[in-house]
Amino acid sequence: MKQFTSVKDVENVTELVKEARALKNNPYADKTLGENKTLGVIFLNPSLRTRLSTQKAAMNLGMNVMVMNIDKEGWALETRDGVVMNGTTVEHIREAARVFGQYCDILAIRSFPGLKNREEDYNEEIFNKFIQFSGVPVVSLESATLHPLQSFADLITIEEHKKVQKPRVVLTWAPHVKPLPQSVPNAFAEWMCQAQKEGLIEFIITHPEGYELAEQFTEGATIIHNQDEALKGADFIYPKSWSSYHDYGKILHNGKGWMLNLERLKITNQAKVLHCLPVRRDLELGSDILDSTESLVVEEAGNRVWAAQTVLKRILENI
Ligand code: CP
Repeated sequence: MKQFTSVKDVENVTELVKEARALKNNPYADKTLGENKTLGVIFLNPSLRTRLSTQKAAMNLGMNVMVMNIDKEGWALETRDGVVMNGTTVEHIREAARVFGQYCDILAIRSFPGLKNREEDYNEEIFNKFIQFSGVPVVSLESATLHPLQSFADLITIEEHKKVQKPRVVLTWAPHVKPLPQSVPNAFAEWMCQAQKEGLIEFIITHPEGYELAEQFTEGATIIHNQDEALKGADFIYPKSWSSYHDYGKILHNGKGWMLNLERLKITNQAKVLHCLPVRRDLELGSDILDSTESLVVEEAGNRVWAAQTVLKRILENI
């Protein structure tokens, strides 16, 4: 593996999940693979799970890890090209990325979208500059449009907990007070569409009209606007809020009726509930679900380690 920014960097997700589950059973099998190799973990935005699970994964492989919250600890970064830097920015991403490449063998980066300019966000302008200028393999810790390590961990969790050969997996839009990026649902859709192609699952998306995700990520998914209809017979449900892609970055719906609680799960096939976290209780998802055995959110967060470790292992084997 040369980089990890999307499911497109993976040949076969079935095999990748098998490898992750084997690593989970034997976490230190490759504890010298990363000896004398350095992972730089760079955040332009906050994190709990991604930060800690990626560090732990790298440590399990024997890597050295350097973490930097560049938004708070670095010089104010200029990401635009062709500007005279006579304002508040001090360091250009072109130099900063090259310098990271001098110190690190692999870079892992988080850079959220601005949700103002769709073209800029969907061209991954900031993320692609790190790839272009660092000169080392780059792992996405969530970009403007995708969160592939999260989706990989989600698929590991589904495979671990499935009770039928080909479970019905439903991604459902959920309410929120803030407009959120589409990166988690885009990536989840992209990974689940690939898992469906490989025969692992059946994949359904439900959301109010106006919340259609970019088609490039949903090809092969069944899209149903009636949430109850979508939830019928579901084995796994993935509630997640996102802002509109078409009316970019906007909240279009007051959310009434879209938050799930235990009562709403009765029409499912005793569905287990996933969420990437952090989650706003009783706004995005009912606390009765989160406090019940139907919730897999903590196990899912635990699987972030094995997702990251598998990706780092594959990249290290290719360096
Ligand atoms: N799910 C996830 O990426 O969590 P953090 O934002 O806390 O890293």
